[in-house]
This record gives sequence, structure tokens and C-alpha cells, in this order.
Amino acid sequence: MLHTLFYRLAYGLGRPPWDTGITPPEVVQALASGTIPEGAALDLGCGTGTNVVYLARQGRQAIGIDFVPAAIAKARARARQAGVAEQVLFFVADVTHLEALPLPRVAFALDMGCFHGLSSEGRQRYAEGLAALMLPGGHYLLYAHEPALPADRSHGVNAEQVQVLFTPWFNVERIERSGERDRASAWYWMNRKGSPS
Ligand SMILES: C[S@@+](CC[C@H](N)C(=O)[O-])C[C@H]1O[C@@H](n2cnc3c(N)ncnc32)[C@H](O)[C@@H]1O
Repeated sequence: MLHTLFYRLAYGLGRPPWDTGITPPEVVQALASGTIPEGAALDLGCGTGTNVVYLARQGRQAIGIDFVPAAIAKARARARQAGVAEQVLFFVADVTHLEALPLPRVAFALDMGCFHGLSSEGRQRYAEGLAALMLPGGHYLLYAHEPALPADRSHGVNAEQVQVLFTPWFNVERIERSGERDRASAWYWMNRKGSPS
């Protein structure tokens, strides 16, 4: 509840600090790699849609999910302005209940800053829902903060927790850690187990 309120306030009060309008190089590299199978792309916790528009511009059907209506309204406007409205689908919805949405199977999934704020039950449901949705061989790129303190369960996730949670369904190919000011974080490059058909 507090989590939802925090994000509603953050978007309601103006432009939150993470809403840079810039697609990071890690996402650009992933799309340019040529190794992602054909198919739709999904941004989990898409905020105001910068990366959904980027994914649509790469020729993919792009789907954005966020539980803050004001963020999705801005994302829809951004997609219209960019001329990609026909290629995008947005949902005001909870990423921990993906099974409730009429989504196609996806070949690429992105999460920048959403997963690390979920409860442990939410993370489990999210991982199961995402695994069910992703095509074999599909790529999943996750950017997540690490916990500020090792015992902090409310925000942040470490590499071991990510691996334990996702390895039933995903191969963790690469982890790139970095420290942003006082906050350590990492990019996780994963792909869905199973051969692309
Ligand atoms: C730190 S922001 C990052 C937004 C966007 N990915 C970006 O990089 O600009 C995290 C986003 O996840 C969304 N979010 C958090 N928990 C969510 C949930 N359970 N379901 C849907 N969206 C959620 C928030 O509303 C917020 O837009």
C-alpha cells in the first residue's frame, strides 16, 4: 500500500528522478545484439514509457505495464507523439499478477527499477508470471538496486537472491555490478531456458 502511494505521489508531484527520458546503453546493446528471438517486448514497471517507445522503434510490438495511472497516461501520450501508438499496448496493472492480463508471449522483457521494490511474495509471483510469458530463448534484462543494508528486505535485491529466484526458468548469463553514489546496483542479463522453436 505504502509502496503504491509512494509511486503515485512521485508521479503526481512532477518528474521523479529516475524519469530521465533516456534509454540506457545496456538496453540499446541488448536490442542491437541480434540474439533476441522475434516477438513482442515487455517493460515491467514502465513508468512514463521512454523504453516502451524505444522498443517499438526497434520494430517490436511493445507492451508497458505500470500500476500508476498518471505514469501510463504520460506513456500513452509519449507513444502518440513518437508515432508508434499502433505498436504499443499499455496496462495500468500490477506486475505481480501478470496472469490476469491478456498478454502475448514475449521475446524480450525489461525491468528497470521495479522488481527490487516488490515484497518477497510479489517477487515470487512476478518471476512465475514472467517465466510463463516468455518465449524459450527470450531475453530478460533486469536493473536492480542492492539492499542498502544486508538485512533490508523492503528495497533491493542481491545477486544471490536473483539467481535463486530466477534459475528454475532462466539462465543468468552475465551480471554487471556498479555503485551509483552510495547505492550499489546491478544489471542482470538472463535468458529463458528452452530452445527457440
Ligand atoms: C523506479 S521506477 C522506474 C520506472 C521506469 N522503469 C524508468 O526507468 O523510468 C519503478 C516503476 O515501477 C512501478 N511499479 C512498482 N511496483 C509495481 C507493481 N507492483 N506493478 C506495476 N508497476 C509497479 C512504479 O510505478 C514505477 O513507475
